[in-house]
Amino acid sequence: MKSLGLDIGGTGIKGAPVDTANGRLLADRFRLLTPQPATPESVADTVAAIATHFAWDGPIGCGFPAVIRGGVAHTAANVDPAWIGTNARELFSRTTGCRCAVANDADVAGLAEMRFGAGKDQQGVVLVVTLGTGIGSALFTNGHLVANTELGHIELKGIEAEQWAAESARGREGLSWKKWAKRVDKYLHRMQEYFWPELIIIGGGVSKKYEKFLPLLTVETEVVPAQLRNEAGIVGGALVVAEEVG
Ligand code: BGC
Repeated sequence: MKSLGLDIGGTGIKGAPVDTANGRLLADRFRLLTPQPATPESVADTVAAIATHFAWDGPIGCGFPAVIRGGVAHTAANVDPAWIGTNARELFSRTTGCRCAVANDADVAGLAEMRFGAGKDQQGVVLVVTLGTGIGSALFTNGHLVANTELGHIELKGIEAEQWAAESARGREGLSWKKWAKRVDKYLHRMQEYFWPELIIIGGGVSKKYEKFLPLLTVETEVVPAQLRNEAGIVGGALVVAEEVG
């Protein structure tokens, strides 16, 4: 089956048609800047522009950086507050004229990793952690997703973990890799204490620089970088609509 996978982020919205049987992109990905302010209407217009670019009239699946239940956004940690209460699935279906599905961005990327990447055939509990502007989480047990876990918002050092240990904190505070890795390590220790995963997969853009920080981690759980890198959101988005997850 073919579907258009879209990865909606704070700075860019990218998409490509995907063969959901093997996770392969069927065309080069196309990226547009996220409109500012990223209101529901302006983001929906950008989603429609990407569908038009591919002359697409099939199913569309999107990852979006918020809690999404039944197509409705329930949080807006790093996106415009106007999203709270918006039915993203209905809005995107209306503006594109296509059947759409929407799910949390980390859940979407996690699905792609579990199906085609670092978590393929992995049994037991697997935690996917995406390090970017925020910290996203996707929790799996025997390949089944527990959606919307939002584990980037646990408290660490008296603040939300994502404000202290996300990739954005490294840039904002000018932290060395070593200092930042210590923070990530502390976060992963906490995750280990709570969930005892068999495997932790680190996603997000920074996962391509994994050799700078993964060797510095002391957590006992096996930690590996995501394999699909910046395609995980697109491939996972395509899976979400193909399998009616969102
Ligand atoms: C949001 C999550 C999202 C994560 C990564 C967090 O701030 O609350 O929904 O998955 O950022 O984008």
